[in-house]
Amino acid sequence: MEEYPGRKNIAVMISGKGSNLKSLIKHSKKKNSLFKIVLVISNNPDAYGLKFASQSGIKNLGIKFKSKTYFENRSLKLLKKHNVDLLCLAGFMKILSNSFIKKFSKLIINIHPSLLPKYKGLNTHERAIKNKDKYSGASIHKVTQKLDSGKIIFQKKVKILKSDNAESLKKKILKVEHEIYPKVITKVLTNL
Ligand code: GRF
Repeated sequence: MEEYPGRKNIAVMISGKGSNLKSLIKHSKKKNSLFKIVLVISNNPDAYGLKFASQSGIKNLGIKFKSKTYFENRSLKLLKKHNVDLLCLAGFMKILSNSFIKKFSKLIINIHPSLLPKYKGLNTHERAIKNKDKYSGASIHKVTQKLDSGKIIFQKKVKILKSDNAESLKKKILKVEHEIYPKVITKVLTNL
């Protein structure tokens, strides 16, 4: 397949299921996709999501989190080797150090299942429902060394219905995540 001129290299970091990765792979296969996934890294060698990368012939590996330094140094080498223009975290459950962020020197973005700055960290859906919020949603933000705190690039709201529980809300938000992440990555890459 002929590649779209100006296509950029992205890498994705995951820890688990990888449904966002799956949606990014699907998008990247489109003829006019502005990005190519050249590398997938997981801190968990058993992450289910690695399977999606393997199935599509994308270089992927689980790097054991023996220590943050070990994981980050190995990742950095690979990111440089594969000329990665943008690093996208998708369900990556570790916090990257300031030193990693500086050494990588390119933009790192993350997707989070809440309307940040509300509900940083885990159990976002449970907390939104417990607080009787009318809306939750998904946020895409720049990654800094502070958890879920970098500049917000894009957000999309999702209405919380009376009938929703954490599981149904999670499903609705994931659907939105799959829709917005490829679009926002494309936009970010156009502005690089
Ligand atoms: C997503 O809700 C993402 O926003 C959060 O972790 C979840 C990962 O899901 N950071 P998946 O692994 O992409 O299915």
